[in-house]
Amino acid sequence: ASRMRQVVAVASLLWLLLLPWASAIRRSDFPASFLFGTATSSYQIEGAYLEDNKSLSNWDVFTHVPGSIKDGSTGNVADDHYHRYEEDIELMHSLGTNAYRFSISWARILPKGRFGEVNQLGIEFYNKIIDSLLLKGIEPFVTLSHYDIPQELEDRYGAWLSAEVQRDFGYFADVCFAAFGDRVKYWTTFNEPNVAVLAGYMLGTYPPARCTPPFGSCARGDSDGEPYVATHNVILSHATAVELYRWKYQSKQKGSIGIVMYTTWYEPLTDTPEDRLATERAVAFTVSWFLDPIVYGDYPPEMRRLLGSQLPSFSPEERRKLGYKLDFIGINHYTTLYAMDCMFSSGCPLGQWTQHALAAATGERNGVPIGPPTGRSMFYVVPDGIEKMVTYIMKRYNNLPMFITENGYPQVGEGYTNSEEWLDDQARIQYLDGYLTKVAKVIRDGADVRGYFVWSLVDNFEWLYGYTLRYGLYYVDYRTLERKPKSSALWYKRFLQSLHEDQ
Ligand code: NOJ
Repeated sequence: ASRMRQVVAVASLLWLLLLPWASAIRRSDFPASFLFGTATSSYQIEGAYLEDNKSLSNWDVFTHVPGSIKDGSTGNVADDHYHRYEEDIELMHSLGTNAYRFSISWARILPKGRFGEVNQLGIEFYNKIIDSLLLKGIEPFVTLSHYDIPQELEDRYGAWLSAEVQRDFGYFADVCFAAFGDRVKYWTTFNEPNVAVLAGYMLGTYPPARCTPPFGSCARGDSDGEPYVATHNVILSHATAVELYRWKYQSKQKGSIGIVMYTTWYEPLTDTPEDRLATERAVAFTVSWFLDPIVYGDYPPEMRRLLGSQLPSFSPEERRKLGYKLDFIGINHYTTLYAMDCMFSSGCPLGQWTQHALAAATGERNGVPIGPPTGRSMFYVVPDGIEKMVTYIMKRYNNLPMFITENGYPQVGEGYTNSEEWLDDQARIQYLDGYLTKVAKVIRDGADVRGYFVWSLVDNFEWLYGYTLRYGLYYVDYRTLERKPKSSALWYKRFLQSLHEDQ
């Protein structure tokens, strides 16, 4: 009996220690085969931007133009993951993750696109990553293009504005499937092409920094149709890669292939029919814009109705190609906003990504934010949003398998006086806990979600924000490149262990 008392005493002590992290959610609330991982992308972490024959990417060129990035930084060094990948894979291993989502730098594999040689040193780099992951029981989940493309393609023919890019992307995919497909079982063609197109061809904030008036703020007024042309070429590039995978690789390699979309959930700002319709348009114009053609062979009816012939159409041959579809949908989800009608009401603010849907997005109603703000603009904590977004995609696309390919919390660090403050990221823990709880719920309600990846493993180059926003579970000291676990890393580790504690 005294031994029993001892055990109880130790157990309650342990429980007290764990209390700050005590949460209802456990790994055992998810299917046994569920993938839990972290996500990164080549340009944001690798650095080594000119090493081992890599050529310049569109982001290398863009970040070197003064004024492009908030803190004037570039990805020249980033996290130096190129040289520290072993250490980073060890971090994943110590977290207890069983998957890792990363992207391949196209300019490292094909410095001149299909107009030059395959760079064996680039192939070797990713071979080493894939092999190290597999040795540790971590499933590689690979993105072919996460915003960065060889600048060569931009210079030669205007990249996404030319149908030629479909051949280049197909060639790149072929090289990657051939080199890595024996070991990589999860492929995605593109990361957030909806963001790349809207920021690159409408707002002018990402390369190639072209604007569609009146949305962007570029001096140059480019042609209106560019976002639609670029999207058409991205969709057909995706289809080219999938067709190739189906014919040449899939039966042997037994992997699957999908695409990753950026998804914001929208709630109507007011209860008027106008705002409710605007809300539907906002989702259709950002998410279904790409997914409808890939799954059903044409642009969403919500878009056709409004844009008519401004939207390109798919030829019979292109439709045939789209018939290869995709095996799963990758969902990057972070936040929820209000949508308001701009079709019938005037005075809508310009510049939001949803604006081409004649719907504007806003984070507040009568001065009250839609959820706790995070410090990053237009980014609020609304866990219900992930459940609603997954449900929308599940219903619209017949419950195709889904992965939450990104979810995470940005630290702005305003008012921080020393670097230690970044490490105590309780707000991130609450965010991840809240969102994961909703993912478990939506699975219980029948959604076929098969994995979840935290953005990001380590702090990294956050595009226009440079190094000023930190998403990592691990803090990176950019002077020494040392990685330090934040509280959220320990929380994720505990959560991932909770399966074993149950047994
Ligand atoms: C979306 C992108 O895929 C990723 O590159 C970015 O860093 C995160 N979300 C956070 O903004």
